[in-house]
Amino acid sequence: MKKLFIVANWKSNLTSSQANEWVQALEASIKNQELENKEVILFPSFTLLSNIHSSLQLGAQNISPFDEGAYTGEVNGKQIKEFAKYVLIGHSERRKHFFEEEKIVERKVEMAKKYDLIPIVCVQDAKTPIPSDVTIVAYEPVFAIGTGTPDTPENAEQVAREIKEKSQVQYVLYGGSIDSMNVKTFTQRPTIDGVLVGSSSLDPQEFSAIINHA
Ligand code: PGA
Repeated sequence: MKKLFIVANWKSNLTSSQANEWVQALEASIKNQELENKEVILFPSFTLLSNIHSSLQLGAQNISPFDEGAYTGEVNGKQIKEFAKYVLIGHSERRKHFFEEEKIVERKVEMAKKYDLIPIVCVQDAKTPIPSDVTIVAYEPVFAIGTGTPDTPENAEQVAREIKEKSQVQYVLYGGSIDSMNVKTFTQRPTIDGVLVGSSSLDPQEFSAIINHA
């Protein structure tokens, strides 16, 4: 059975009490599920990271491109490492609203590596540059994010194949309008190694169904 990454990207949502309720509801509902080949990872806001106590893995949605020091407002790799194993880098919302360009994406990957965090780099297509030493990439076409219109599994598979052919990437996830009804059509593709879930991850029952159906 291949390894599958099932990733919840909460984006800028949930307070600490809501996050705790979510974790309790999810853990109750996945209690009897077989998770053997599934790596379930939550990406909450920074303010929630230290407060979430769960058997699931944690990731940060962002990382400072700088090390510790005089960088007001930034959260650096050393700080993230206290609470998380993964870090999301280069999400299209960061590229669009926060003007993150390739250089920044590269520096963030370097910082993640320095502190032994596993970067999951988001790319918009097979042409997006991927910094070296990245092993997990999420293919997230902009037209599919938050629109209810996912890419076709055929095309996502094709992009995943191209990415693996031209880089050293080991795992390619698909993200964009994933829900419990369509998740399997992506994860059953041989070259797709999991899903990155935005809006459908905010409802613990729906996210549990996604884990179950993946
Ligand atoms: P979506 O978001 O599932 O709401 O489309 C995916 C993402 O942005 O990671």
